[in-house]
Amino acid sequence: MELPAHCVATLGSAHTAVNTSPRAGEEDACRLGSARCAVLIARPLARTRCALAGGSRSLSSGPHAVQEESARHRSSKVGCGFGASGAPHRQAGRAASVRGVPADGYLDVNRTNWDSRASVHAQGYGIDGLLADPRHLSSVVTFDLPRLGAIAGLDVVHLQCHIGTDTLSLARLGARVTGVDLSAASLDEARSLAKRAGADIEYVQSDVYAAPNALDGRRFDLVYTGVGAICWLPNIRRWAQTVADLLRPDGRLFIRDGHPVLLSALAMTVGAEHVDRQQQQWITGPGPLTPALELPYFEQPKPLVWNDEYSYAGVDKVAQPRSMEWNHGLGEIVTAVLDAGLELTSLTEHDSVPWDALPGLMVLDEDVKEYRLRDRPERLPATFTLTARRR
Ligand SMILES: C[S@@+](CC[C@H](N)C(=O)[O-])C[C@H]1O[C@@H](n2cnc3c(N)ncnc32)[C@H](O)[C@@H]1O
Repeated sequence: MELPAHCVATLGSAHTAVNTSPRAGEEDACRLGSARCAVLIARPLARTRCALAGGSRSLSSGPHAVQEESARHRSSKVGCGFGASGAPHRQAGRAASVRGVPADGYLDVNRTNWDSRASVHAQGYGIDGLLADPRHLSSVVTFDLPRLGAIAGLDVVHLQCHIGTDTLSLARLGARVTGVDLSAASLDEARSLAKRAGADIEYVQSDVYAAPNALDGRRFDLVYTGVGAICWLPNIRRWAQTVADLLRPDGRLFIRDGHPVLLSALAMTVGAEHVDRQQQQWITGPGPLTPALELPYFEQPKPLVWNDEYSYAGVDKVAQPRSMEWNHGLGEIVTAVLDAGLELTSLTEHDSVPWDALPGLMVLDEDVKEYRLRDRPERLPATFTLTARRR
């Protein structure tokens, strides 16, 4: 039986077709969205950010000390897209709090974290492929191409460019690209990559919010920002205003990032039968893992603080494992963009993500090189693309 179209399609969605086998109750599947009863989660397994292969670990956070599943995927991560990573030791909610400044010292914490990831990532970011073929593009930029459009000849600023793999790809599409990042060590890797690839790319070290000053007030045709970026920023409205300040009139914003629903989800075990499963057999029964909304969806003043010894790329330990992240709801992102004086030109939700964000639940689509839920991928918006234009 085919699912009813109104249950499968999401507004503006670029979902792939639903490929679940027929199950009873599918005609009512869209009612699952009503969330009138939460799935009962009895046994929190672990934060599923880059759970490591090799044995189980005892977790002591939260009310239930449990054993983490062994032999999870080495390179998986959740939390904040490419940003989040590491071991399953969960330390949310312990950051110093706010009053205007969201978390004292968050820039230093995140800078040292990213500095220590840079050389680790340089081993695992597809750099060999970029160097082997001068036409090769990163898989992230390849995914973006249909929505990015032609960028040849444009002045592009790539915010939070990290080690420059996507930045190089944008340059290979003919743009004049400036990469901005907080982490000096990341920019060292990015400069080295550009040099070896023979690309002329300018890199500037700056906090995103300070980028207009660091770039001496220069304006750009396109602000590009890629997966795993805005979760490192405490205030989405300030980010949107920064984007507006970097754009020429008529200039464009392109952002693809982790969907805030994904970033609020952890893989957890369903502990009990749900009363509605007799009517809706889509509902997961007791035993298996399922995505559970356990982390904040809406922007909070306090960051999530994580200590992850391993990152999502490379194999070595990260010397500075502490990081601070914030989620931003989709409505908060859109409203921030509109209030900054940009007009929305598209908003697309995708069911796939470039990393194994929910280990044990996702499967790699080799064609697009992205992960989506193995079972019922229509449940989860995993990433989004938003494009806007400055008036
Ligand atoms: C996941 S990576 C970049 C995403 C990019 N798509 C990639 O994977 O190459 C996140 C980057 O954000 C940078 N970053 C974090 N906080 C920042 C801030 N406040 N200002 C500028 N860059 C920041 C980090 O240094 C890191 O290089």
